[in-house]
Amino acid sequence: MVERETWATRVGFLVAAIGSAVGLGNLWQFPFKTAANGGAAFVVFYLIAVTLIGFPALLAEFVVGRRTHRNVVDSFAELGGPAWRVVGAMGMVTGFWILSYYDVVGGWVLRYILGSATGAYFDDPGAYLSAVASGPEAIAAQAVFLAIAVGIVAMGIEDGIEKATKVMVPSIVVLMLALGAWALTLGGAADGLAYFLSPDVGSLVENAGTVIPDAVGQAFFTLSLGMGIMVTYASYVGEDDSLPVDGGVIVVSNTLIGVLAGVVVFPILFAEGIGPADSGPTALFEAMAAAFATLPAGRLLGVVFFGVVALAALSSAISLLEVAVSYATDNTDASRSTLALGAGAILFVLGLPSALDTGDPGGFSAWFVWFDAIAYNLLLPLSVLLVVVFVGWVLGRDAVAELRAGSTASGGLAMVWLWTVRLVVLLGIVATLALGFESLFLAEDATFFAPF
Ligand code: PFF
Repeated sequence: MVERETWATRVGFLVAAIGSAVGLGNLWQFPFKTAANGGAAFVVFYLIAVTLIGFPALLAEFVVGRRTHRNVVDSFAELGGPAWRVVGAMGMVTGFWILSYYDVVGGWVLRYILGSATGAYFDDPGAYLSAVASGPEAIAAQAVFLAIAVGIVAMGIEDGIEKATKVMVPSIVVLMLALGAWALTLGGAADGLAYFLSPDVGSLVENAGTVIPDAVGQAFFTLSLGMGIMVTYASYVGEDDSLPVDGGVIVVSNTLIGVLAGVVVFPILFAEGIGPADSGPTALFEAMAAAFATLPAGRLLGVVFFGVVALAALSSAISLLEVAVSYATDNTDASRSTLALGAGAILFVLGLPSALDTGDPGGFSAWFVWFDAIAYNLLLPLSVLLVVVFVGWVLGRDAVAELRAGSTASGGLAMVWLWTVRLVVLLGIVATLALGFESLFLAEDATFFAPF
């Protein structure tokens, strides 16, 4: 077994974890889910879900990783016995499942950087989208995206992930702030912000049944939960770091960047008169491209915008690759590079359906929607549920002790966390799973059967 690495610094861990959290979930999914769910009403549910369900669940994953300093599969086994390996394995499967279509979107982003630089989509954004969203071009771009992520992970924790994210994350923040400041000067800024930030209480009450599961799913996705990532990253953390403080910094930074993404995207869409309600997985690409095609200095803005999205997507993808690589390095003698390459190859094959041209409207694969719906409605909540049951009800007081190590949190506060995990988080997930099951299998337009 190769000796285990650790983060060189606490900031290194924080930046890597923020890099994992900030991703397509914030910059692409959050704006389009907000748009699809009626604007600010969704933002309110999302913020509640992040605070009450996402944050405590993040700490639960940290506790498991740091207590054992093992990979996600062996850590659960070490703490609970061999049967609990299944929880870690579930996280790994969920992560691979998600990255398999996530890297297809990563490929689109790379194509849009290129398209912005050359102005290739300026004449006909819709045609450009259809050309790059699926088929050979999408497959090639997906391979390039994966190759970059594999390259970084192959270099190791300290020399690869930590060094790369220390450059990537500050760049994302600075560029997003600059884009936000510019977006606020646009003609659509006031309308865009009003849509994004002033909740319509009527629609909030009316749509609670669909908004809640979407908001909870989004909270898990954006904090990189249920994929083994935060267990793995915390396994490289020392006992003198405060997990609640680090978790708080990660949650707040991630949320602020999500809000900033809305501040960038909505004014641009409103300025161009592009309805946010038309949004969907690819519509945002099309709408942003259409905006850059007409705005002054659109090429430069396009390169910067899609460049930021690419950095965010990459710093998330590497965290997921690391889950598998860490499992394999703990259990074999193979080199990191070989293992990273192997994981990348598996992901490439798994992603093929989501990149294939199925002749569907909008130019993207019907399998893409299928993979995403299963991840959101089933795998993700189920995977977090298993972690929460384990940490809350099996580890119990040991979890409290681990949470308090290196922190100044009082015993009382730690117990509040434990009971939140045991009850609030658990019930929130069960409700989400029930509603997700309905939309996946029982509803009239059940997504599970759609591609068949
Ligand atoms: N937190 C990430 C995001 O919001 O984009 C979720 C994620 C997805 C992480 C895919 C890693 C990954 F490979």
